[in-house]
Amino acid sequence: MSKLIIHGGFFSESNTDESTKKLKQESLRIILDKSFEYLKTHSAYETVIYAVSLLEDDPLYNAGIGSQIQSDGEIRMSAAVMDGETQLMSGVINIQHVKNPIKVAEFLNAYDDRILGGPCATEFARNNGFEFFSVETEQRRKEFEEKLRSTGSGTVGCVAIDAEGKLAAATSTGGKGFEIPGRISDSATIAGNYANQFCAVSCTGVGEDIVSGAVAAKIVTRLTDGFSMDKAFEKTFEELKIVDGFAGAIAIDKDGNIFHLDSHPTMVFGAFDGKNYEIFS
Ligand code: GLY
Repeated sequence: MSKLIIHGGFFSESNTDESTKKLKQESLRIILDKSFEYLKTHSAYETVIYAVSLLEDDPLYNAGIGSQIQSDGEIRMSAAVMDGETQLMSGVINIQHVKNPIKVAEFLNAYDDRILGGPCATEFARNNGFEFFSVETEQRRKEFEEKLRSTGSGTVGCVAIDAEGKLAAATSTGGKGFEIPGRISDSATIAGNYANQFCAVSCTGVGEDIVSGAVAAKIVTRLTDGFSMDKAFEKTFEELKIVDGFAGAIAIDKDGNIFHLDSHPTMVFGAFDGKNYEIFS
């Protein structure tokens, strides 16, 4: 039954050269292999955190190392994880100077207060052993200085089902780039990351659109209420058109069905069920 699907944001107009595409396809495949191996001996919840931490460690993506720079020259990141079995979500919003925001989100899951924001999230991380780490890369500084958005609305995420049929979702982002400081992404909200015993969903795209469309929460709720996976996606993405929404989502349901959809070309994603890979092209 064990399966997983990951995403790495969108392939934007300014960086659609074949070599970058190939690098992303190779990176997705390596992360799928490592994460699938991990899933053999760990739960879906543990695996989505592991997979997202690998995506955060790869500067090809806009999360963790390689996060985009905001309008004041600072990097702020957001991440969340949700265990479909317990339905406990935890997350950090606009955290700074940590290597893996998803691991701070994981750490918070043990607390009653599970979503922290801004300087208090950073302070909480520091007080609990998460060392100072600069996630800024030369490439992102160059893009910032040139006021270019080379990766568009990139974000990373993973959805997994484990051998016991348990589901989980995790999502992490560096935001959309050049935003007003304090802007809140969808990634650490139920619009961008949601899971229960029926379905788990992680989103990428423009956070404002994803929040307006309540994308992950709607898909999961519709499936829970009896919609098929394709109908739950179809109706949710149809409603997204009201705000001219730019979004992509990945999902797995309790029967192990994997699904993905994007409103615009092209979401960067890869899925693996132990036998077959599906990688974006
Ligand atoms: N989806 C990531 C963001 O808009 O911040």
